[in-house]
Amino acid sequence: MTIMLCDGRPMPRLGLGTWPMNDDGAHQAVRHAISLGYRLIDTAASYGNEAGVGAAVAEAGVARDDLFITTKLRGSHHGYDAAMRGFEESRARLGLDYVDLYLIHWPLPGRDLYVDTWRAFADLREQGLARSIGVSNFTPAQMRRLAEETGVLPAVNQVELHPGFAQRELRAWHAEHDIVTESWSPLGRGSKLLDEPVVADLAAAHARTPAQIVLRWHLQLGAVPIPKSAHPERMRQNLDVFDFSLTDEEMARMAELDSDGRLGGDPDTHVEL
Ligand code: A2P
Repeated sequence: MTIMLCDGRPMPRLGLGTWPMNDDGAHQAVRHAISLGYRLIDTAASYGNEAGVGAAVAEAGVARDDLFITTKLRGSHHGYDAAMRGFEESRARLGLDYVDLYLIHWPLPGRDLYVDTWRAFADLREQGLARSIGVSNFTPAQMRRLAEETGVLPAVNQVELHPGFAQRELRAWHAEHDIVTESWSPLGRGSKLLDEPVVADLAAAHARTPAQIVLRWHLQLGAVPIPKSAHPERMRQNLDVFDFSLTDEEMARMAELDSDGRLGGDPDTHVEL
């Protein structure tokens, strides 16, 4: 199951998140995930687990073309030359010839280097080293600036998204500009979201788990969720969400959970190194 990016490349509809796994944890988890059928794996330079992800990919016995590996540039490598170096370091740690999706991890507006960084990303795509390029945690104003100054819009914006923080306006902006929304912390970090009565009700009604109901909500918004789990049984259930659907009325009940409940950093102020 894939979604088409604006650059014509297909992206799997759901993937495995790997934060906050270390190299060993990521190695184990990604090996399990690929054997269960996951094809999209999400990592980042700042997670410190790219080598573990790469080791699992190398052992997977799945053709490289059938996998979709995403990594992200860390804040210390903003700027054109530094971004080129950061990419090369990530690529070497992953042990890959190319990555499928390369993201600017945070905009860091205080440093004001994300436009130059994006020029490097455009060149990496031209060179085929990053098949698709995108951003993470960017606001519409920041993405508009990328388009105005470089002529290139991101194919993906990976942002915090879960029923408690549903990002309605941002998703509408993405839809208008043909940008795929990718959801980090899609399960709200496994917090009380999964205990919400409406989620429990829908889980009972569909004979599914609360996590499956929440992941189905993402899919029906058109977003690409990347739930993290270190447990094969949870990985299996998180991927098993393509054979049922929520009704419009059930989606409307889920929408009532939106409470501006951001769990992570704010793109306008977050500082990441
Ligand atoms: P674990 O790794 O122990 O399975 P998010 O992706 O929103 O950040 O959520 C990840 C958190 O949710 C992790 O703590 C993970 O724990 C937990 N989690 C992942 N899948 C499930 C599931 N199917 N049911 C309950 N908790 C889950």
